[in-house]
Amino acid sequence: MTEIKIRDKEFRKMIAAEDIQQRVKSIAANINEDYKDKIPLFIGVLNGAFIFMADLFKHITIPCELSFTRLSSYTGTTGGAMKKLIGISEDIKQRHLIIVEDIVDTGDTVKYIFDELKKHDTASVKLAAMLFKPAALRHDIKPDYTGFEIPPAFVVGYGLDYDGMGRNLNDIYVLK
Ligand code: PRP
Repeated sequence: MTEIKIRDKEFRKMIAAEDIQQRVKSIAANINEDYKDKIPLFIGVLNGAFIFMADLFKHITIPCELSFTRLSSYTGTTGGAMKKLIGISEDIKQRHLIIVEDIVDTGDTVKYIFDELKKHDTASVKLAAMLFKPAALRHDIKPDYTGFEIPPAFVVGYGLDYDGMGRNLNDIYVLK
């Protein structure tokens, strides 16, 4: 289907599932080569990254580990909105981390995660993102492994949602 409706909005297909899978395989091949002498710890950022992580992981052939994290928002003691990184239970000291994201949009999320991880004595931190919107970026951050660079439009599918829906779509759709 090239056009779909989710809730009140209409979307058209932008990236086909086969093209996504091809990029996933290519990224996995690069990671297998780059980390052949290491045991990387993949850290997926929930919720959106779960599908990309699962697909990517199936093509990783080197020894590796996996974990997930999420940014939880809460109200601080002074009333302001605060963020907290939750879920990483592994010891990340001297580990080679690969952060896995469905999309880097403004970059706020990965900037926060990178800043948090800097407080730990990691061996290295790299970023794999299926989608990257360079025109929307607000930080000096670029994925080390990118699926597709896309224009700054609203997209859904392959883990990405519109109002909670559409994460299960195998293709990626853009708002019409
Ligand atoms: C989405 C996406 C990234 C982030 C990217 O997550 O999964 O984590 O936004 O945007 P940014 O670069 O502007 O920070 P979201 O907070 O919507 O949560 P979700 O993954 O549960 O959908």
